[in-house]
Amino acid sequence: MRVLFLGTAAGGGLPQWNCGCPSCVRARHEDHTRTQDGLAVTGDGSAWWLLNTSPDIRTQLLRTPALTPPPGTRRTPVRGVLFTSAELDHTLGFAALREAESLTVHATAPVLDVTPSIALAGAYTTVSTQVVVPGKPFDLDGGLTVTAVSLGTKKPRYAATAPDSTDWVVGYRITGPGGTLLYAPCLPSWSEAFTEAGLGADVVILDGTFYREDEMVGRSARAMGHLPMVDSLPLLDGGATYIYTHLNNTNPAAWEGTPEHTTVTAAGALIAPEAGELSARLLG
Ligand code: MLT
Ligand code: MN
Ligand code: ZN
Repeated sequence: MRVLFLGTAAGGGLPQWNCGCPSCVRARHEDHTRTQDGLAVTGDGSAWWLLNTSPDIRTQLLRTPALTPPPGTRRTPVRGVLFTSAELDHTLGFAALREAESLTVHATAPVLDVTPSIALAGAYTTVSTQVVVPGKPFDLDGGLTVTAVSLGTKKPRYAATAPDSTDWVVGYRITGPGGTLLYAPCLPSWSEAFTEAGLGADVVILDGTFYREDEMVGRSARAMGHLPMVDSLPLLDGGATYIYTHLNNTNPAAWEGTPEHTTVTAAGALIAPEAGELSARLLG
């Protein structure tokens, strides 16, 4: 099983195009950017699955050799997409894959119902939708078995009038040759369901949007559906390697050398490496 960090930032990325905060200025100055959150996973090295398709998906695909078509072909190694939410930073890029011969998308029913880029892509190519039912395992080509876990009820703002559901935000527990991974880039609280989904996982990739509750002016981390790192760090146990992703441009832990970054590494956790690969050693 291989896992690639396609993007590691929250909505807007780092730097955000219209932001001149110290972190965004530093990212521009040092050419140290983070694109918006997503992973690519494979069980056999040839059939790849995208977990979320951010607006940065084109950049992410073009810079990732494992995801490029073999020369002389139009064959993409990408077999399909899984969404953890219907938020724009996780789904907008799906429409940019419209050149595909066909696309398969796995997501919970409420997410499939509202995500605009599914219909957009569907006007250009054949899109097959697969309803994900939390707690019910399903297989993906290449030897992966996936179980979704319900994590949150927060609807995207563009779908504010859609029906309530416990399945708006999910995580995916993925088992493949060599290990088990839990991917939960948006985690509103450390629920029992989340604890259970992480049992026996080698690696847990979790919500690192905010370091502190009041980091953003005007809106608290929890009100936005994100457990701040100060509150998840004390809950990390020794059972898995924890890796924080979906880092907002306000989060000082995104930068090596900050006291917050030092606190994370001292707790035995990691900050997701942009465009990096998860070490096979951690999965084993
Ligand atoms: C989130 O992660 O809370 C959402 O992506 C917010 C947003 O960018 O609209
Ligand atoms: Mn987001
Ligand atoms: Zn900024």
